[in-house]
Amino acid sequence: MDADREVLRFQPLIDALSAHIALLDADGTMVAVNAAWKRFSEANGNRQAHHGIGLNYLALLDAMDDMEPRDAKGLDDVETAHRVARGIRAVLASELDRYQIEYPCDSPTESRWFLLTVTPIPGCEVIRAIVSHEDLTALRAVETETLQRTARLAASFSEAIDAIARAVEKRDPHTAGHQHKVASLCEAVGLELGLTQDRLRGLSLAAKLHDIGYLGIPSEVLTNRGRLTEAEERSIQEHPDEGADILAEIDFPWPIADIVRQHHERLDGSGYPRGLSGEAICLEARILAVADVFDAMTSHRTYRSAHTHGDTIDELLGGRGQRYDRRVVDALVALVGTSDP
Ligand SMILES: [Fe+2]
Repeated sequence: MDADREVLRFQPLIDALSAHIALLDADGTMVAVNAAWKRFSEANGNRQAHHGIGLNYLALLDAMDDMEPRDAKGLDDVETAHRVARGIRAVLASELDRYQIEYPCDSPTESRWFLLTVTPIPGCEVIRAIVSHEDLTALRAVETETLQRTARLAASFSEAIDAIARAVEKRDPHTAGHQHKVASLCEAVGLELGLTQDRLRGLSLAAKLHDIGYLGIPSEVLTNRGRLTEAEERSIQEHPDEGADILAEIDFPWPIADIVRQHHERLDGSGYPRGLSGEAICLEARILAVADVFDAMTSHRTYRSAHTHGDTIDELLGGRGQRYDRRVVDALVALVGTSDP
């Protein structure tokens, strides 16, 4: 079969494809191009009747070297042109099964992206490789828009969480900023303990909302300076359950409701609301418990002044391995130190 007959055989096939396609011989000479290639070439001001057929693709790419340096992109950029030429040569020499590269190809009015793929064509006498340029511009635009939308949604989500945290803390002015400080501490301890970025995100989110159950408790009770009645005491102790119930309806990719429900549980079973012990308390809740105690004790409250840093560390070390997770206490103490900052 001679070259013309081979091209005739391939022509209807490549004309049926939407990518811009050129067929190369062993030297890299273009022996055929498809209809999409011709349309693209004409739309971009190429008036040559042969549309590149008969020209050597590799020679065209190599010639980029001789061009004046300019603000070139895509295949007009010397580096990219060399890379593509190496890829085509490797495919023609059977060193590669396929070569692919994405490159920018801007028109005067539009930013465009193309995917160039070079694939060998075995078993032919003349045609040795197919070079296709696929227009990725629309796909890239959708990707960019999706990324921007996702980033906007993530920012709104984060702002909504902050707003809820502020609403909770408005009930008692002395707890302003508590959940955020606990969240920062949790992230630092979690990082120290080797939690993955994904688990850290869940832990931080749970920490920012951990006292959301206070929304159901009258602020007079939260800010009460005197003794609480039994019923008031009970309602305070129910806030982890209340919070978990509020959050359980949200389909978070993390066990936020469980972490919130368990943040006042203690390893030895002395916590509330369930009196869970040991491994029944998830690691995130054990971290949150220690960070919560540290920030609460070192902060001023209506009913008491702040404990000293030293007293707080004594409480945590005293309960290390009993009320509090040993590794969590060690990580926190390593971060904040044992003496007053
Ligand atoms: Fe709490």
